[in-house]
Amino acid sequence: MVKIYSQEQVAKIKQSGRILARILKILKNEAKIGISLKYLDNLAFRLAKESGAEPAFFNYQPDGAEYPYMASVCTSLNNVIVHGFPTDYKLVSGDVLKIDFGIKYKGYYSDSAATIIIGKSSPVAKNLSRATQKALEEAIKIAKPGSHLGDIGWAIEKTAKKYKVRVIKGLTGHGVGLNLHEDPIIYNYGNKGEGLELKAGMVLAIEPMFSVGTNDTIQLRDESWATRDNSLSAHFEHTIAITEKGSEILTK
Ligand code: MF3
Ligand code: CO
Repeated sequence: MVKIYSQEQVAKIKQSGRILARILKILKNEAKIGISLKYLDNLAFRLAKESGAEPAFFNYQPDGAEYPYMASVCTSLNNVIVHGFPTDYKLVSGDVLKIDFGIKYKGYYSDSAATIIIGKSSPVAKNLSRATQKALEEAIKIAKPGSHLGDIGWAIEKTAKKYKVRVIKGLTGHGVGLNLHEDPIIYNYGNKGEGLELKAGMVLAIEPMFSVGTNDTIQLRDESWATRDNSLSAHFEHTIAITEKGSEILTK
């Protein structure tokens, strides 16, 4: 069932989202050559706690995972798309890093992710990252009362085509609010006018994931998801609310 949140509830998710956005910005600034993924994870944990929030992924068991996730932040490198575990690995120039973070604040969840390129970036990586960010923007633009989930997927897919990159299949966005993952499932492809009709009060985590190679995934031993052909991938995510007038980004 897709929840309709009251304006008061949306305001609370926005408080959660604001804190999350501030922390994610710090993590992006700290992610530099020589910095370990574990350092970013510890920092995320500390900043969340200092804000009175809980890291939402810690101890969370995603659908299809065999074990709960034992870190605060997901740090996915290069071919890894999502759920990359923050190890001792130290970032090197050219790394395409996806930082995905979620918090629970006063009972309300928010979820957001971004891709950054460490040091010197190749034109291929830059195009991929830009494409994914642009797809999220386009998806948010089209999300309003009366639009459909298929419109969101369509906008994302159209952007991928424009930038000549591929939409990863099998990994999706989701509703968010009182739980980290709620209905509906938000596919990154679709047809205009199809699927659930959007209504004011819906809160959605939209998360396009693109690759420069295959759209097929493989689950690695640490339960992260990577591209099957090891090609570069990118991921951006915002939590948004559908409002009477259109939509509002809650994680900025
Ligand atoms: N942020 C992921 C998502 O976008 C959820 C990660 S859950 C974890 O939905 F437990 F794997 F970290
Ligand atoms: Co998410």
